[in-house]
Amino acid sequence: MKYLKFLFVLGCAIAISSVSFSQPKYIGSNACKMCHNKPAKGAQFKQWQETTHSKAYSKLDDAGKKNPECLACHSTAGSVSKGLIATLKVDEGVGCESCHGPGSMYKSAAVMKNREKALERGMVIPNEETCKNCHEGKKPEGHPAAKKPWNFEEFYSQINHPDPTLKK
Ligand code: HEC
Ligand code: HEC
Ligand code: HEC
Ligand code: HEC
Repeated sequence: MKYLKFLFVLGCAIAISSVSFSQPKYIGSNACKMCHNKPAKGAQFKQWQETTHSKAYSKLDDAGKKNPECLACHSTAGSVSKGLIATLKVDEGVGCESCHGPGSMYKSAAVMKNREKALERGMVIPNEETCKNCHEGKKPEGHPAAKKPWNFEEFYSQINHPDPTLKK
């Protein structure tokens, strides 16, 4: 009897630890498209496709596409550990999840509608620090110089994708 009780407690401990170890995974920008491409809500997917972020991988030369050092900033898939990748593809470049966090646990409409819940499940509301990880990060020697010095307001205005229906 004592032994059974021990097994039960052990089982609970394993169940609890596996819950805290279940981490959100990266699912790729296409998984956001179905809900975030409506013009009335700001068509974030289309907006992103028109920015250089969606082309950050395809613009690398063949050597760069294979170089983990380049991929760390030029592709979401290259900047996260392989174990956290579900359906994310390297060629999408700097995707939604580079800034908003891995989507597997917040992508359902019920969670997304509730900001607190979405934040609990891995959604990130990005800020300037998010950008600076790449824009002001250590670039390899010989890296092309930025066309303009970093300026959050100016750079953000080129990639922003507000949802006009969201109340702030
Ligand atoms: C099943 C539909 C659905 C999917 C899939 C989805 N979202 Fe959402 N998302 C919503 C809804 C609904 C809202 C709430 C705002 C609204 O009504 O437009 C929202 C809100 C957001 C917000 C704003 C949060 C806030 O409160 O400021 C962000 C950021 C976001 N989604 C990112 C993503 C990303 C990134 C993905 C893909 C990984 C994604 N969403 C996938 C439906 C979805
Ligand atoms: C720390 C992040 C980071 C790393 C590492 C990095 N890049 Fe970049 N790269 C950027 C950013 C940010 C830009 C946008 C321009 C800027 O601000 O420098 C950029 C721009 C570029 C451009 C110019 C694209 C254009 O539109 O003209 C090329 C080419 C490029 N990177 C190649 C590489 C290659 C090749 C490597 C690896 C050897 C690499 N990058 C590593 C962040 C990085
Ligand atoms: C995961 C790394 C990463 C993050 C995070 C990131 N960027 Fe970028 N960004 C890049 C790379 C790489 C390029 C260059 C893409 C190319 O030209 O191929 C770029 C290009 C840009 C450009 C175009 C610049 C030019 O001269 O062509 C703007 C604007 C920009 N990013 C703004 C932002 C802002 C604002 C944020 C934060 C909200 C941000 N980025 C976050 C990697 C990143
Ligand atoms: C380079 C970083 C970056 C990328 C890539 C990016 N976002 Fe965002 N996103 C932001 C920032 C910054 C905000 C504003 C956060 C705030 O409210 O302060 C934002 C806000 C949003 C919002 C809320 C808009 C509002 O009015 O509050 C939604 C929805 C959203 N993003 C969805 C997406 C989706 C879907 C993708 C991919 C198709 C995507 N984002 C790609 C940086 C990014």
